[in-house]
Amino acid sequence: MDRRRMLAEKRYEDLCRIIIDDMNTYGLSVVDDFLGMDRGLQILNEVHKMYASGVFRDGQLVSNNIQDRDQRTIRSDKITWVKGTEEGCSNIGYLINQIDAVVGLANTMKNNGLLSNYRIRERTKAMVACYPGSGAHYVMHVDNPNKDGRVITAIYYLNLNWDTQRSGGVLRIFPEHGGSIADIEPKFDRIIFFWSDRRNPHEVQPAHRTRYAITVWYFDAIERERALNRCRQYDKTSTSCT
Ligand code: OGA
Ligand code: OGA
Ligand code: MN
Repeated sequence: MDRRRMLAEKRYEDLCRIIIDDMNTYGLSVVDDFLGMDRGLQILNEVHKMYASGVFRDGQLVSNNIQDRDQRTIRSDKITWVKGTEEGCSNIGYLINQIDAVVGLANTMKNNGLLSNYRIRERTKAMVACYPGSGAHYVMHVDNPNKDGRVITAIYYLNLNWDTQRSGGVLRIFPEHGGSIADIEPKFDRIIFFWSDRRNPHEVQPAHRTRYAITVWYFDAIERERALNRCRQYDKTSTSCT
């Protein structure tokens, strides 16, 4: 193996070790300067173009029996889902691959504590979210309250020169087991990881400036399989158990 490759792998391992320790201690981990300025700007550029093209829609809640207007009082972000292989998404694709590499390695490294309880093989597509200012927010919620399979939430932020005092938009996490509240600023090129289940209720406080983030959720294979089986039993004709 050449030296550059060795250094690159060492960096991954060091990074994963930090994420593993944080996840075990706090249930969340914050990493700054994840990809560097140039790559971050290219990703932001792709997101801007997608937003301008009009593909973003109101963020949907999982239960569909809530009126649209009520929905928007719960979450008022605009979202779109991408694989990263679509035209005009290659830098988002690169980001997704980088997150996959980190989560995959953290899941299989030795002495990874709670992470060894899971077998992570799949994830959702990437959700690109825009809080379009004007107080857009997301009230306190748990991403996976009912064992739908998602175990880790990873969020990458794209907001240059974010000033929380002026622009709000803080992600506030209220750890279930008495840990202290974590206020996370949605800073450019920052990535965060946290357990998706009831350990981490969280909210996005009103944003007064356009706020972009890209989120992927990683599945535990067993919890996911059980969730899919429940879904198929509940509705045998359904093709929506995906
Ligand atoms: C979500 C969410 C947090 C953020 O989309 O479920 O909680 O900081 N987002 O954007
Ligand atoms: C803003 C702003 C940056 C962006 O809305 O105030 O600076 O990336 N947005 O859209
Ligand atoms: Mn959430």
